[in-house]
Amino acid sequence: MQQYRMYIDGRWVESLSGEWFESSNPYTGLPWARIPRGNGADVDCAVAAAARALQDPAWRGLTASGRGELLRRLGDALADRADFLAGIEVRDNGKLYAEMRAQTHYLRQWYYYYGGLADKIEGAVIPTDKAGHFNYTRHEPVGVVAAIIPWNSPLLLASWKLAPALAAGNTVVFKPSEYTSASLLEFARIVERVGFPPGVLNVVTGFGAEVGAPLVEHPQVAKVAFTGSDQTGRQIYQAAARGMKRVTMELGGKSPNIVFADARQDNAVKGVISGIFAASGQTCVAGSRLLVQRAIHDEFVDKLLAFARHARLGDPMSPDTQVGPVTNLPQLEKILGYIDIARAEGADCLLGGGRPDTPGLEQGWFVEPTIFAGVHNRMRIAREEVFGPVLSIIPFEDEEEAVAIANDSPYGLAAGIWTEDLRRALTLPDRLEAGTVWVNTYRTMSYLTPFGGFKQSGLGKESGQDSLREYLKVKSVWLSTTEDVPDPFVIR
Ligand code: NAI
Ligand code: MG
Repeated sequence: MQQYRMYIDGRWVESLSGEWFESSNPYTGLPWARIPRGNGADVDCAVAAAARALQDPAWRGLTASGRGELLRRLGDALADRADFLAGIEVRDNGKLYAEMRAQTHYLRQWYYYYGGLADKIEGAVIPTDKAGHFNYTRHEPVGVVAAIIPWNSPLLLASWKLAPALAAGNTVVFKPSEYTSASLLEFARIVERVGFPPGVLNVVTGFGAEVGAPLVEHPQVAKVAFTGSDQTGRQIYQAAARGMKRVTMELGGKSPNIVFADARQDNAVKGVISGIFAASGQTCVAGSRLLVQRAIHDEFVDKLLAFARHARLGDPMSPDTQVGPVTNLPQLEKILGYIDIARAEGADCLLGGGRPDTPGLEQGWFVEPTIFAGVHNRMRIAREEVFGPVLSIIPFEDEEEAVAIANDSPYGLAAGIWTEDLRRALTLPDRLEAGTVWVNTYRTMSYLTPFGGFKQSGLGKESGQDSLREYLKVKSVWLSTTEDVPDPFVIR
């Protein structure tokens, strides 16, 4: 068993209570690491350290270009450790090594990009209408940022928050998911080696109620950056509101993947598969509702089944594996529960529908790739986020009906459109209530491009230039250039 410590104020510490919890490998079902079980007292230490670091000349006094250089050095250092970090992620979340490796090698780009932006944060000189005045704006760091992340892509989602937060000059206290704490602790070692001053990054491990909640409520926290479920997101938003804190919320989705009769079906099949079975469906952008035009419904569903039936479940470290286990036991039970709900609602299970009986996979937290046809958009299986490899197929007649069904969802994170019709490809994205729309592709993302949901899928943007603004506050400064101050009783 590997034993981890938390990273607070530049030091590696146990929890003040001395308590621990275990982190398990989803493929073996066995614990492999011991993680400190923090609580409000550890949060107090971390937030105090982050607040001190904000005032520390070693951080505050660093020029914007100096901050950028540190971020770029972090990018370089991450690249050297990318394979190692990917292995840790897989041990904790069970996702395919091939995918986690692609992610950890890509991480550096966020640090290069925001490192480059750090010294391009510019205020403005405002042309004032008040005679004898000079007016300008400054873009300042918001302060101590609480960053709370889930288990599906810990380091990627952490970097979406950390890179812009540090570029803007903030300090950060992280709370990783209780299911996947190890990778962020390994990541913190790299941050330490690169030479960020103590307290700029802190990691407190533990459970949502014991670490997350006191972190959000801490009076010295200025902003909460959260990725996770909409239920927890709503609780955090309410707690943040009491303290008038800023938030960015990246919550779940029930994203429609819409296949028209004119689509190139072989491409659409691959897009639909990657949208729902990649990462065993544990992605916020999962294309969990497949909308298929009636004219091609049966033909397309046959092609989809032919492809999905051969998905290879297995060891996530093996390059041959296509579908790994799901990350944790509650998640496994939640997914199986939704499969039961779909059956009870009258949906027609065409593929999967349970745990696999493949020899060798008994101990892992596997769910078969599962496809339901005959789903109506009013069913729970079409409205609620399953976060697993479960696809719901809903037929539609024409474009109008496709848009109506797609938008009839509490969520609005992403949508996919498969069509060869240029007019449709250009006009439909405008009509879909989703923060990201993909046409003839799915799951494409970049550090350059703002990402974030509409409706119950969240608030604010991550990545791209929009994200930097989420970590800055604007101050206006007025200077008088007049010789004499005018009559104090009248504002002119
Ligand atoms: P969660 O949303 O409860 O947890 C996410 C993070 O928030 C974790 O670090 C957790 O410890 C923390 N947290 C929990 N309660 C908190 C509180 N009251 N205050 C502050 N922080 C708190 O997600 P969980 O329990 O891991 O998974 C539950 C469901 O959430 C999944 O079944 C899935 O449907 C969904 N989910 C969605 C994700 C997405 O990216 N859209 C990611 C992970 C889970
Ligand atoms: Mg939870």
